[in-house]
Amino acid sequence: MQYIARLGSTAALGASKYSSRLMGVSTSSSGRFSTVAANTIHIQFVDAEGNRARLPGRVGQSLLEVAEQHSIALEGPCHGGGAPTELRRSEEWVEDTWGEGLSCFLCHVQIPSTFNHVLPEQTQEMKDGLEDVWEDEANVSSRLACTITLTKDMNDMVVYVPDVPPIDCM
Ligand code: FES
Repeated sequence: MQYIARLGSTAALGASKYSSRLMGVSTSSSGRFSTVAANTIHIQFVDAEGNRARLPGRVGQSLLEVAEQHSIALEGPCHGGGAPTELRRSEEWVEDTWGEGLSCFLCHVQIPSTFNHVLPEQTQEMKDGLEDVWEDEANVSSRLACTITLTKDMNDMVVYVPDVPPIDCM
């Protein structure tokens, strides 16, 4: 995309602006691409033992992608529904899923309510899935990392990563 921006033609710049909007990447008021640094924010991950890591992520990435990029212990085999997943529902029942939407509910994170204004609402589907898998550990702060797309407003957002689910659902 930098190459397209450097061409300087109106058409190329128009296409670049359009693509960047689709990707959630901001441009400056002059229509030129902003720098990587301008589209980088930091997320503060906190694990179940209270260990804290402030790590970079790009605007437009999902919170799950950022966690995976930095080897944070956060599982998300269904990646929000696009990836093939083999779910163990019980000892006898292993279900193959593919492109069926949210299905694993393992990418559970908890985020303080001070960030509610930048987060997607908890849908009934999310609530039900989180309660099924995480039981009492799911609460009003619970979200699915695969459904959160980073925006600039999320800079320094605190993300608590709970330990494994109370039941063996994998
Ligand atoms: S990765 Fe499966 S629900 Fe988020």
